[in-house]
Amino acid sequence: MARKSDTVSLFINDVPVKIHRGASIMEAAHKAKVDIPHLCNHRHLTPTGACRLCVVELEGEGPGRPLIAACARPAESGMRVLTHTDRAVAARRLVLELLLSDHPGDCLTCEQSGHCKLQDLAYEYQVADSRFRGRRNRYPIDTANPFIVRDFEKCVKCYRCAQACQELQFCEVIDYMGRGFDTMVTSALNRPLPETECVQCGRCVSVCPVGALTEKPSRYRGRSKDLKKTVTTCPYCGVGCAIVLETDGQHIVRVTSREDSPVNKGDLCVKGRFGYGFVNSPDRLITPLIRKDGELVPASWNEAIAAVAAGLKRTKQEYGADAIGFLSSSKCTNEENYLMQKFARAGVGTNNIDNCARL
Ligand code: FES
Repeated sequence: MARKSDTVSLFINDVPVKIHRGASIMEAAHKAKVDIPHLCNHRHLTPTGACRLCVVELEGEGPGRPLIAACARPAESGMRVLTHTDRAVAARRLVLELLLSDHPGDCLTCEQSGHCKLQDLAYEYQVADSRFRGRRNRYPIDTANPFIVRDFEKCVKCYRCAQACQELQFCEVIDYMGRGFDTMVTSALNRPLPETECVQCGRCVSVCPVGALTEKPSRYRGRSKDLKKTVTTCPYCGVGCAIVLETDGQHIVRVTSREDSPVNKGDLCVKGRFGYGFVNSPDRLITPLIRKDGELVPASWNEAIAAVAAGLKRTKQEYGADAIGFLSSSKCTNEENYLMQKFARAGVGTNNIDNCARL
């Protein structure tokens, strides 16, 4: 029996594309450098087809052909996909109008402004207002969590946050609640996040395409688009997650991550995402401290190293090398950790060496 090819060949707006079997039309369009608008689709999440902004048409299906969700429909050989037909554009404008009919118009002060997918799409499709008038959802802003602000009125029900919680962080804290117009994406019984199993990783915030979920510590301290971005490595443990520091001068305003990082694929733990306060803390140690007469007093590095050397020599002479232990840190590089064990074994003469990652 003939083996199915691993790739499929199709056309996106007359651009030929070859892509692995199982890829969606959205992925094929991405490969063809054709942008299909979307709110719910995310490269690390299972497609849900929730927002319907990605609808496209297939050439040759005749009048009345269905609009299909490019994110959820697998690409097939021979398909001729039309991404910006009049019907597709009209359907997107309708969806945007419906979303805006129940969305606060406070873009001037919204934390997400300039970084909001709904704002971008409304601009791109020139949807300034909605012809749909009527009831609006009204919810208080939830600020109970020390790290995450939830503004349910801005939620577009894309379900990305719930999926991130379920599929990436495996916490399953967030899900749909209610039906129809009253649907909310929230924690069970709409409890504040600190009362749930939430581990405060902030992954839900990172995938939210609008201002429904934002970071509390960086609130009103600077919009993402105005901040300098520096890609670096998280200083906390040995995993080496990629982080992006968003800074204003010498101050870190927020920490985000990169979805294309091979190490963490955009995921971070609570420390990596929110534990940057120490960097600009006035309590941060900027010199070594030596205990003198029971008091810790600032010292130079030369003084500190001399004090450590004297202490090690004294202890070794009085009690032997195995009275000394070394604890190394995963915040250091592999080379630094190697030097530490070399110093313990070859320099001091003990095998009492360990690393904080094992504790
Ligand atoms: Fe396809 Fe939302 S991106 S339905």
